[in-house]
Amino acid sequence: RPGAERWVPEDAGVGDLRAASESCRGCELWQDATQVVFSAGHPGARLMLVGEQPGEHEDRVGEPFVGPAGQVLEDALDAAGIGRRDVYLTNAVKHFRFEPRGKRRIHMKPTTAHVVACHPWLQAEVEAVRPRLIVAMGATAARSVLGRPVTIGEERGVLLAPQGLAVDQALVTAHPSSLLRMRDADERRAARRAFVADLRAAAELAG
Ligand code: URA
Ligand code: SF4
Repeated sequence: RPGAERWVPEDAGVGDLRAASESCRGCELWQDATQVVFSAGHPGARLMLVGEQPGEHEDRVGEPFVGPAGQVLEDALDAAGIGRRDVYLTNAVKHFRFEPRGKRRIHMKPTTAHVVACHPWLQAEVEAVRPRLIVAMGATAARSVLGRPVTIGEERGVLLAPQGLAVDQALVTAHPSSLLRMRDADERRAARRAFVADLRAAAELAG
């Protein structure tokens, strides 16, 4: 059976999960990536943030959200009064998916099959961390956390019930890289304000 399940140790803490993830062959994405990118932040956090997948920077460094999208996220967390210690930060898919174009590597969205294959890692992380609430950033993360297709614009700001994860509440919000793609300054400012407001609401709900 495809998927990460057979590489995920049972009843493991975050450290053991991270170590085991280096051997994962649950889908083909490990083949071309530099390394697995597992998670960052506090394993005892009440708030878990889930992104899409590591990007080019994360693939090289081996840590989530260290590139431009990570900077957007870090600034928004600061603005929302949330410290790095208050969150556990991970991705729906743990290996970088890209298309080579000359010497460049162009980010490609993971497919639903990749999201499903990688889901056992997220499941194990939730069991290890036991957050009060998950924030899914972007549609790919929301697909993994809620176990169904989600349109962010339609469901953001509403408390949602995760599927197949040991946590009762989730919110969906924009992905920080969607802010980077906005060319219009007013639009970008408004999107950033909404993103910060979502993070602040999530922190309040998580306690
Ligand atoms: N985007 C993500 O979704 N995750 C990362 O780790 C970096 C960029
Ligand atoms: Fe395993 Fe996920 Fe990497 Fe696929 S993306 S090889 S399922 S860790």
